[in-house]
Amino acid sequence: MDVLNATSAGIRERKKLRGLKIGMALHVEAKTACLAISLRDAGAEVRLASCNPMSTDDSVSLALMEEYGLETFARKGETNDEYYNNLNSVLDLRPEIVMDDGADLIAMLHTSRKELLHGIIGGNEETTTGVVRLRAMAREGKLQFPVLAVNDSYMKYLFDNRYGTGQSTMDGLLNATNLLLAGKRFVVAGYGWCGRGIAQKAKGMGAIVTVTEVDPIKAVEAAMDGFSVGTMDRAIRSADFVVTATGCRDVVTYEHMRHAKDGCVLANSGHFNLEIDVETLGRKCSARRVREYVDEYTLADDRKIYLLGGGRLVNLVAGQGHPAEIMDLSFSLQARGTEFIAEKGRNLKPGVHTLPREIDEELARLKLKSMHAGIDRLSPAQRKYMSSWSEGT
Ligand code: ADE
Repeated sequence: MDVLNATSAGIRERKKLRGLKIGMALHVEAKTACLAISLRDAGAEVRLASCNPMSTDDSVSLALMEEYGLETFARKGETNDEYYNNLNSVLDLRPEIVMDDGADLIAMLHTSRKELLHGIIGGNEETTTGVVRLRAMAREGKLQFPVLAVNDSYMKYLFDNRYGTGQSTMDGLLNATNLLLAGKRFVVAGYGWCGRGIAQKAKGMGAIVTVTEVDPIKAVEAAMDGFSVGTMDRAIRSADFVVTATGCRDVVTYEHMRHAKDGCVLANSGHFNLEIDVETLGRKCSARRVREYVDEYTLADDRKIYLLGGGRLVNLVAGQGHPAEIMDLSFSLQARGTEFIAEKGRNLKPGVHTLPREIDEELARLKLKSMHAGIDRLSPAQRKYMSSWSEGT
């Protein structure tokens, strides 16, 4: 993680994180460990819990505690109670800065742990779902401190959401099933940055891809990107795979599943496990575990549906999360965002903010350097031309 290493060296030198308490709720896996260790090495006191009950890599959690002495509260397969107890343990640190992925930690600070609000300088949010939640809080006048929407930086969503989710979703899907994609019918629900990435990777592996959308503009974009566009109602009838990446609930309902093709594999790559109605599926159908991360559900007429990772984000439950080269960028933004909040957070109004574009550009240049790629610079005449209006011909 060259970019994170260079970024962290700068942060250590500038010393803005020294003595600060940072509470983190992120997916506890190898790349996250690099971020947590970097912040600790920059002088912060850090506590870490998982932002999802199923996404922890237990070997990483253990190594963080035993080899790095970093207070980590995470286990793969947490119960709901354990999950919230772990978030509470992070908050017991009385953090001044919080780093969140999905906004559960920040939501708790505004509900069950309000007594800690006065000590918070600000926070960072990693993912689209978390940013959507925070904007809803801000709209209702509820959000009490500034939060940087890391997700909304170019160096995040263009790469993490698109190439990261695209690749790690395939990693989870193939690791769980070992099925062939070539020639199969593959439905992607949602054509945001994550859905675009998943559709692109599935097409690249030879699948026949259909996109479902509720946004007419994104649907046209999907069509012009060369995908077939249709409703879930119809698409699921011939689908070998359905992957959801919408950030919304009830995208694949039981009614949809009743009409699914025999053998259809269902998976979710969105942050929360409510895109596929697993609850009704479990109530209506008998289930058995047929492989690690694969549950077979038998419908009334004996057709089978295969659900991956219990409907939780397949790329982290059954896969290894985004590749290091991607998290290098996302976590460099998190690290710089944390420094930004430490320095300027007290002067920012409560609400959702974005990181300055200069930080995006700084990280892009570091990334290009690590890729051994040079870029051109504008000459003085070009710069003048680009800022004038009179030189059209
Ligand atoms: N690894 C750590 N955080 C991640 C995230 N939000 N998505 C995918 N992989 C990750």
